[in-house]
Amino acid sequence: MGTQRILSGMRPTGKLHLGHYTGALENWVEQQNLLLDTGERAYETCFLIADYHNLTTSLETVDIYNHSLDMLIDWLAAGIDPEKSPVFRQSQVKEHAELFLLFAMLITSARLERNPTLKEQVRDLNMESLTYGHLGYPVLQSADILLYKANVVPVGEDQIPHVEITREIARKFNNQYAHPVKGEVFAEPAPKITKFSRLVGLDGKAKMSKSLGNTIFLSDNPDDVLKKMRTAVTDTLKVRKNDPGHPEVCTVFSYHAKFSSPEQLDTIANDCRAGTLGCVDCKKLCAANISQELAPILEKRRHYEARLDEVKEILAEGEIKAKQIANATMQEVREAMQLGEIKRVTCREKPSC
Ligand code: TRP
Repeated sequence: MGTQRILSGMRPTGKLHLGHYTGALENWVEQQNLLLDTGERAYETCFLIADYHNLTTSLETVDIYNHSLDMLIDWLAAGIDPEKSPVFRQSQVKEHAELFLLFAMLITSARLERNPTLKEQVRDLNMESLTYGHLGYPVLQSADILLYKANVVPVGEDQIPHVEITREIARKFNNQYAHPVKGEVFAEPAPKITKFSRLVGLDGKAKMSKSLGNTIFLSDNPDDVLKKMRTAVTDTLKVRKNDPGHPEVCTVFSYHAKFSSPEQLDTIANDCRAGTLGCVDCKKLCAANISQELAPILEKRRHYEARLDEVKEILAEGEIKAKQIANATMQEVREAMQLGEIKRVTCREKPSC
């Protein structure tokens, strides 16, 4: 077994919020820094800015570049280290488009129409009709993953169906085009789900999402965090401080579960139930704990915000590295599919003859 490779990505929607952090980013950083007993890194990691994917649900491109930079700043601020993890935009590595086209032949439209994540998107965005590109969303994602021959794909729950489609495409490709000597081109990647992949929004109704306005951004300062926390929905049965509360249904408590220490968590739950901890104080504590975790991220963000040239340079270098890997994979793919010059396999090379 060679080195395991991780690839994950996000669509560039601008500044990231706590949901992105707990659902993905924090985990990316952890995997990036994970060491084996031998002292070697457990994974090679690469992270993709899925700017083509933005176009599947909106044709609006005015902010796509700035959103990509803003998102990258959050990645770097949260601990993505470009020396360890190349970061790159999908649109700058043309092989994504090429592999997407070839993969489009390996899956039926009926299979793509059954994708539950697609159905959810169509419903949430009130879409009347579906573009060919949107239907092909998971095919493009498969190209993203397999171009880098990733074995592990850390994602939130909603992306599991896309990794499943990626596995099917890899299998289909291998069955159809395994090279007579070199064997299979792709390994089937496994999804790796994060525990807090669906952090609930401040409204307590849906998952944290920019379009719903129920988020705390990674770039929010302690005042912003406190202000937003005050609006958070709590246990509706706890009206007065002394009323006994139900932490298990409380949005703020779900944040404590993530951002407060286990000892604090027990005390909070007990005092809330006993009616000795009111929601105002509970929210203050929660906001303080979140801001404490965000403090180093904020500081690093300021560093990069003041050095945009450095950020652009990081991206350019990531894209050079990504192109090298993508290029090598595409050579194998073209060879396996006999596209372009065909190198004949001699009898001596071929084990079966
Ligand atoms: N579809 C993913 C999302 O919306 C983003 C993405 C694009 C991705 N390509 C990927 C994630 C490849 C993992 C691997 O969150």
